[in-house]
Amino acid sequence: MAILVTGGAGYIGSHTIVQLLEEGQQVIVIDDLSNSHLEVFNRIKAITAKEVVFIEGDVSDKHLLAGIFKKFDITSVIHFAGFKAVGESVANPLMYYQNNINCSLTLFACMQEFNCKEIVFSSSATVYGDPETVPITEQSALSATNPYGQTKLMIEYILKDIAIADPAMRIAILRYFNPVGAHPSGLIGEDPNGIPNNLVPFVAKVAIGELPKVYVFGDDYDTPDGTGVRDYIHVVDLATGHLAALKKIKDHVGCAVYNLGTGQGNSVLEVIKTFADVAGRDIPFQISARRAGDIATCYASVESTTAALNWSAKADLKQMIKDHWHWQQKNPKGYKSVH
Ligand code: NAD
Ligand code: UFG
Repeated sequence: MAILVTGGAGYIGSHTIVQLLEEGQQVIVIDDLSNSHLEVFNRIKAITAKEVVFIEGDVSDKHLLAGIFKKFDITSVIHFAGFKAVGESVANPLMYYQNNINCSLTLFACMQEFNCKEIVFSSSATVYGDPETVPITEQSALSATNPYGQTKLMIEYILKDIAIADPAMRIAILRYFNPVGAHPSGLIGEDPNGIPNNLVPFVAKVAIGELPKVYVFGDDYDTPDGTGVRDYIHVVDLATGHLAALKKIKDHVGCAVYNLGTGQGNSVLEVIKTFADVAGRDIPFQISARRAGDIATCYASVESTTAALNWSAKADLKQMIKDHWHWQQKNPKGYKSVH
C-alpha cells in the first residue's frame, strides 16, 4: 500500500511528505523538478530518517505514470503537481492550461485504469474570485480571474463529474488560502525562483538584505489599515490538513470540498510589522499602486472543515513568520545554498 504524491518535491508537497513518512506511510513521488530541487529529498531524509521512492518525470507522461501504478500498490493519490504563478498564467495561458489540465487528465485516467479510488487535490482560494462577503464558505460563488484560477476550477469540475460517474470514488478538494512558513527544523521551505511574487517570501528577501524594500500594493482598500487582508496559514498546518483529508475519504465516498485556512485575516502592514519584530530589524517599505487583479479581503470560514476533518490550524502569524525566517536565514539561497 503506497501513496502517490505528484509534485511532491515542491513547497507544500515536501511538508506533507514529512508527515506521511512520520506516520509510517510508503510514499512514491513523481515530480519533473520544473519548480523544485532534488536536494529536498536529502532534507526530508534528515528530518524523518526515512526515504521516499522518487521518479523524475512529467505527470502528463502516461507511460511513465502507468508504469508507476503497475509497479506499486497505489491506494491513494495527493495531487500537487502544477504551475502556480498567477502573473505567468496571464502572460502564458497555454502553458498553464497545457500543464495543469493535461497532467490532471492523465492522472485521473490512470487512476481509473488501475482502479485507484482515492484522491486529495490541491485547489486554491483563488476559485472564489472576488468574494462578495467574508468569511468565505465552501458554498460561496465560484469564479476565476486568471488562467491559473481557471485551471483550478476546471480540475474541480472534472473531479466532481468523475465522482458522479463512479460512486466508489473518494475525493477531497482542498482550497488553500495563503500558505507561508516552513518546517521548524529550517531544513525545508519555500524556494521561489527569482524575485518572489508572494508577500511573505518577498519580505523575507528584504529582511535578509537581498532586496531593498517591500512595495505595498495599495493602501486604499476598504480594510482596517487600507492594505490587502489575507488568511495566512502555516504550511505545516496545511500539511496536517492533507493527512486529515486522507483519513476522511477512507470512510466517505463522493467528492467533498474543504477550505484550509485559519479563519483569521491579516493585512500587508501587519505582516511587515510582525516580520520586523521577529527578525529584529527594519523592513523598509513603500506604498505603491494596487496590483491588477488583487482583491481587498480574503479569509476562510473553516467551520465545516473543522467539523468534517476534526482539523484546525494551530500556528499564529508570528509562528509562521518565525519559521519562515528561520528557513530563510539557514538557506539564504534556498536549496542552492548547499552547493
Ligand atoms: P510548487 O511549485 O512548490 O510545487 C509544485 C511541484 O509540481 C513542483 O515541484 C513542480 O516541479 C511540480 N510540477 C509541476 N508541473 C509538473 C508536471 N507536469 N509533472 C510533474 N511535476 C510537476 O508549488 P506549491 O506551492 O507546493 O503548490 C502545490 C499545489 O498547491 C499546486 O497545485 C498549487 O497550484 C496549489 N496551491 C498553492 C498555493 C500557494 O500559495 N503555494 C495556494 C493555493 C494552491
Ligand atoms: N502584496 C504586496 N506586495 C508584494 C506582494 C504582495 O503588497 O510584493 C500584497 C498583495 O497585494 C495582497 C497580499 O500582499 O494584498 C498577499 O499577496 P500574495 O501575492 O502573497 O498572495 P495572493 O493572495 O495575491 O495570492 C496567493 C497565491 C494565489 C492563490 C491565493 C489564494 O499567489 O495563487 O493566494 O490562495 F490563489
